[in-house]
Amino acid sequence: MSTEFTKMLNCKYPIIGAPMFLVSNVDMVSEISLAGGVGTFPTLNCRSVEQLEEWIVEIKKRVGDLPFGVNLILHKSNTRYEEDKALVLKHKVPFIISSLGDPTKLVKETREIGTKVFCDVINMKHAKKAVSAGADGLIVVSTGAGGHAGPLSPFASIPWFSKEFNIPIIAAGSIASGKTMAAALALGAQGVSVGTRFIASKEAQVEQGYKDAIVESSPESIFMSRALSGVNASVMRTKNTEDFYQWENSFKGKASQWIMYNLMKKGLKLKKKYSWNNVWSAGQSVGEVESVLNCREIVESFMSDFSEVKESLAKV
Ligand SMILES: Cc1cc2nc3c(=O)[nH]c(=O)nc-3n(C[C@H](O)[C@H](O)[C@H](O)COP(=O)(O)O)c2cc1C
Repeated sequence: MSTEFTKMLNCKYPIIGAPMFLVSNVDMVSEISLAGGVGTFPTLNCRSVEQLEEWIVEIKKRVGDLPFGVNLILHKSNTRYEEDKALVLKHKVPFIISSLGDPTKLVKETREIGTKVFCDVINMKHAKKAVSAGADGLIVVSTGAGGHAGPLSPFASIPWFSKEFNIPIIAAGSIASGKTMAAALALGAQGVSVGTRFIASKEAQVEQGYKDAIVESSPESIFMSRALSGVNASVMRTKNTEDFYQWENSFKGKASQWIMYNLMKKGLKLKKKYSWNNVWSAGQSVGEVESVLNCREIVESFMSDFSEVKESLAKV
């Protein structure tokens, strides 16, 4: 398969294993890259810079020349940014996904070593800034995504961003099969970034209950909450989180969610009880996930679905 993304990254398939806090690990990243995609992980999944170096060295050992990447949070709250970035540059990691912040300096620093920098964006204003900063590509995170979802439907955003910019646009949000990948490519994306589907993988470093909940949930069990990070994140309504869901809903219409978040930060009852560890994030693509597979099987299933879609569309 050949798209502007596969040509730029030198990979077989235009599938990024999206970086996921507390989920992505060495096994996931390596297996996705070995299967022909591009595995990535947030540097903050490593407890220390020393561990980050171990992860990068190990992934390189396993994947050889195949591309893989890291996610760097540029926001000033990430106190490890400079140290993590220095290591990533030292090891010439081929691919960086930047989130939250101005990537201008980062892009300049990567030019000589050939690392490609793609920026997570959820709106046109930030996309324009990222493109002026010299980004090699944009990851457009749409509504329905796991983690911090964007506000726009991919049916609107992907064609719009693709028309506006001459760099590869990657679609993120609610893509969990070759069918949805085909739809994203039809809309103008040059690749897809897939999170939720890979949580239900054998390699993901999360408890079995989380993986099972992804398989068992429906798109209607995903709700938005600001209570964990201050900005909207997609959360799964499960038996374990029913009280959290009810609590969250009880505030709607009574106080803004922002006030609620700040109350929580000050130590109201939920602060101690709920965190990213026990309130599980997932996107609306849970409806497409039917079993826990290993990462290679997931990438292969994308490609076989994709071929079927191409054949069936040719008959339309
Ligand atoms: C549990 C979870 C953790 C995430 N953590 C991060 C993160 O640390 N950095 C980041 O840029 N995106 C993060 N994301 C967003 C993903 O990289 C990706 O944009 C999103 O999962 C795509 O939507 P999908 O889940 O519908 O496939 C996270 C998503 C999930 C589900």
